[in-house]
Amino acid sequence: MMNDAASTTETSSAPAAEKFPYSSQFVAYWYFLVALSLFVLQIVLGIWLAISYGFTIPQDIVDVLPFGMTRAMHTNLLVLWLLLGFMGGAYYLVPEESQREIYSVKLAYLQLVILVVTGVAALIGFAFGWTQGRPILEIPTLLDFFIVIGALMFLFNIGMTILKGRKTAVTGMLLGGLVFLALLYLFGMPFYRNLTIDWFYWWWVVHLWVEGAWELVTAAILAFVLIKVTGVRREVVEKYLYLEVGLFLFTGIAGTGHHYYWLGTPDAWLWIGGIFSALEVLPIIAMVVDTFLTTRREGAKIKNKVVWYFAVGTAVGHMIGAGVWGFVHTLPQINYYTHGSQVTASHGHVAFYGAYVLLNLTMFWYAIPKLRGLARFKTSGAYWGFWIMGLSVLGLGTVFGVAGVLQTYIERVMSLGFMTAQEQMQFWFQIAIFFGVTLLIGALVTFWSMFIAKGARQPTDG
Ligand code: HEM
Ligand code: HEM
Ligand SMILES: [Fe+2]
Repeated sequence: MMNDAASTTETSSAPAAEKFPYSSQFVAYWYFLVALSLFVLQIVLGIWLAISYGFTIPQDIVDVLPFGMTRAMHTNLLVLWLLLGFMGGAYYLVPEESQREIYSVKLAYLQLVILVVTGVAALIGFAFGWTQGRPILEIPTLLDFFIVIGALMFLFNIGMTILKGRKTAVTGMLLGGLVFLALLYLFGMPFYRNLTIDWFYWWWVVHLWVEGAWELVTAAILAFVLIKVTGVRREVVEKYLYLEVGLFLFTGIAGTGHHYYWLGTPDAWLWIGGIFSALEVLPIIAMVVDTFLTTRREGAKIKNKVVWYFAVGTAVGHMIGAGVWGFVHTLPQINYYTHGSQVTASHGHVAFYGAYVLLNLTMFWYAIPKLRGLARFKTSGAYWGFWIMGLSVLGLGTVFGVAGVLQTYIERVMSLGFMTAQEQMQFWFQIAIFFGVTLLIGALVTFWSMFIAKGARQPTDG
């Protein structure tokens, strides 16, 4: 915005206000820093999970780091850091869109502290068996209330900023997605004695988050970034935003049915789930096509190549992980065999990474160099990180996928026992450890080049 990119290499001591339009945007820096640190921790725990599958570990060690506990840490850390990343993203982009400072910076910091302390308490709690037991939502009810408080503070703060400032399609979409996201969390809090009903609502959080609310947040953040780095007119980006989001909601909500096939719910869900979840691929394809066409049609000049790279990566990653990898097992005829196997885990990794990890990294790469006050930043670490992590996750997806197909065949087609399948799968988990380590290296390279490296190449200003 106001930097003269060509004249300085970097100046970290200059007043913050010169570096980004609104000084309150700086809150986002801390959200991003915590988020990426938790990502590194999540990967380390993932490697431990692969080791637990890949080798027979002495019981004394299993007693200290049991699979169930470390799995809960791995998945909850994933959700926590992605949400913190979205929140940081919101705190960064809302002032620019609304053209005013954040309503209350103090509240934003307090909210971060509450969420991080609750997260740490949850992790320590897991170590002592304090858990609700339901995968991904293991956080005990008491701590859930603190999360709700943090979420309400966030919505209030962002909502007030948006309402008091300029209103745009991007902020409207973002606020809609965030409110939807927060409301859904409430459905995962009560425990229903009837397990069919309990799982029914569990999916309202797990599925309707990633295939509903989070998609709205993604659309808003991607739109913001595309407007900034491509110089394409706002109206052009916004027009497609409505179309994509409408399609996402239409297919994603009914698509929840792909989790109701074997739950004790009425037969109709086989049809509803199969058809609508298969259609979910359409908005995802639309997003990829739209990203390319918009920039080409408008003759856009890409101002920040790194951010553009990650934005396109997000669209393509979304398409591979959610679109292709999701479609493969979404029809009931196939899901009957693959349900709950490592095929599911394979899809879970590629989809989460391709859509939401990359989305967060896109925003981080846009905002952090500016927040650090760099007029130019080093790009090599960003590209290395992109490819090392991307290929590692594809590797993980592949080996989990092979393990899953073996498991499906041995257990569900040949009707042999669990351990017979595990024996055949072990080799593939040993390879997963390798990809876990390369992923860790990619994440550390990213962390270093994002937060620590100096150097000059790409003007931050694009
Ligand atoms: C970015 C979006 C998505 C993410 C992050 C995601 C992630 C996940 C995760 C983590 C699970 C495992 C849940 C569990 O059982 O613990 C799952 C299950 C599933 N996903 Fe996705 N998913 C996404 C989009 C999609 C789409 C678009 C489709 C279909 C086209 C799809 C189809 C499925 C199916 C059928 C299952 C159930 C597998 C089973 O029966 O075990 N997903 N997804
Ligand atoms: C991009 C980073 C990662 C993401 C987004 C991610 C995501 C996930 C998700 C969503 C699940 C739950 C899957 C389900 O319910 O079906 C999971 C479980 C798991 N993850 Fe990761 N993970 C990551 C990194 C890793 C790494 C590096 C490893 C190991 C090398 C790993 C190994 C595992 C294992 C073994 C499980 C348990 C699968 C099971 O229950 O059988 N993850 N992860
Ligand atoms: Fe789903």
